[in-house]
Amino acid sequence: MQFKKTFAVPLSLIVAAMLCSLSLPPNEEKAKNLKILPKNISHDELMKTMRHFNKALGVKCDFCHAKSKDNPQKMDFVSDDKEEKETARDMMKLTNRINKKYFKSGKDENGQTIMTVTCYTCHNGNAEPKKLPEGGPEGAPHGEQPHAAPPQDH
Ligand code: HEC
Ligand code: HEC
Repeated sequence: MQFKKTFAVPLSLIVAAMLCSLSLPPNEEKAKNLKILPKNISHDELMKTMRHFNKALGVKCDFCHAKSKDNPQKMDFVSDDKEEKETARDMMKLTNRINKKYFKSGKDENGQTIMTVTCYTCHNGNAEPKKLPEGGPEGAPHGEQPHAAPPQDH
C-alpha cells in the first residue's frame, strides 16, 4: 500500500506536466521574424539573448522593439519598425563574424557558437560605446590627433 501511494504521486505529476505542455498552442512561442538567430531557437534561449541585449546596452526592450499599433500598451516584437532593431541585426552579424574569423571561437558540445566577444565587450552597458577614454589627447589612437600639442623635439 505504502509503495503504491508514493509511486502514484510522482506519476500523476508527470502526467499533469505532459497534459500541460500538450495544451499549449503549438506556435505561441515560435518566433516569426528571425533573420539572424536560428529559427528553431527555444523561447528560453531567445529571451536569454534579449536580456543580454538589455544589459549590454543598458536599455529596455522598447529601445529596439516597436509598440503595437492596435494597443500602445503592448509591444509588437515581430515588427521591424524601429531602426535600432535593424542596427542590432547588423551588430549580431558583426559580433558573430568577429568571433568566428578572429577568435576562431568554434562551437560547444551543444552546437552553440562560443562567444569570446559579446555585445557587452564593446557596449559595456551603454547604447553608444565610448570612442575614447576620458581625458586628454593621449586617449586618441595614432593618426587621430590633429589637435595634439606640437612636437617637442627639433
Ligand atoms: C538591442 C536591440 C534589442 C533589444 C534591447 C531587445 N531585442 Fe528582441 N529582438 C531584437 C532583434 C534584432 C530581433 C530579431 C533577431 C533576428 O532577426 O534573428 C529580436 C527578436 C525578438 C523576438 C522574436 C520576435 C519574432 O517573433 O520574430 C522577441 C519575442 C523579442 N525580441 C523580445 C524581446 C524582449 C522581451 C526584450 C527585452 C527583454 C527584447 N526583445 C530586447 C533586438 C532587440
Ligand atoms: C566591436 C564593438 C561592438 C560590438 C561587439 C557590438 N557593438 Fe553595437 N555598436 C558599436 C558602436 C561603436 C556603436 C555606435 C556606432 C555609431 O556611433 O555610429 C554601436 C551601436 C549600436 C546600436 C545603435 C545604438 C543607438 O544609439 O542607436 C545598437 C542597437 C547596437 N549597437 C547593438 C548591439 C548588439 C545587440 C550587439 C551584440 C549582438 C552589439 N551592438 C555589439 C560597437 C559594437
